[in-house]
Amino acid sequence: MLPALLLCDFGHLTREVERLENAGAVALHLDIMDGRFVPQLTYGLVVVEAVRRSARVAVEVHLMVEEPDRCLADYAKAGADILTVHLEALSDPRRTLETITSLGPRAHLAISPGTPVEQVEPFLDVCDGVLVMSVQPGYGGQPFDPVALAKLSHLAALRARCGGSFRLGVDGGISTATIGPVAAAGAELIVAGSAVIRANDYAQAIRELEHLARSAA
Ligand code: DX5
Ligand code: ZN
Repeated sequence: MLPALLLCDFGHLTREVERLENAGAVALHLDIMDGRFVPQLTYGLVVVEAVRRSARVAVEVHLMVEEPDRCLADYAKAGADILTVHLEALSDPRRTLETITSLGPRAHLAISPGTPVEQVEPFLDVCDGVLVMSVQPGYGGQPFDPVALAKLSHLAALRARCGGSFRLGVDGGISTATIGPVAAAGAELIVAGSAVIRANDYAQAIRELEHLARSAA
């Protein structure tokens, strides 16, 4: 379970990181939005650096930005353990993924709900993970789009058939109602924003979601 910090209390960032880690987060998911690839503008390098300084667990940086190639080295230096880029924003996905790997982080490729899953297939040999979006990137708290389920199943079946070591992730609209189906479809790295951050007790929310994922997988 990777909590997304998007809706957390940024006035007390260190405390939020500590609360999420104590609650059992295996990694933290940071949503970088540039106001161009998606309408909203969130935060950038200084926040990633601050989270990296206080976190013990891995940090995934989800780049929802145009021309991500321009900032890969900066986010790698800021401490991203996983750098996730959107296929829709890339002119040469293979080169971008290879660049990320050469900089140190694991290279993950994200696809928005409208992007056919077949479009990631040519790049599976150079990515460590695929992040299937189950909402339109841009906002937390949106309803889950079931289009992600067929994509996850497709990729899980492909990996079983053809081999490959890429991990399968899902991001958007995860709740106690949707985590079972995504886990059953093959998702291993499950991002949850509002389902954790809007709960009073992060530990209880994560425990319940993980239990539902384990029972369904
Ligand atoms: C959406 C972001 C998600 C978001 C998840 O653009 O990529 O990571 O923070 O939030 P929920 O779980 O509330 O959909
Ligand atoms: Zn995200």
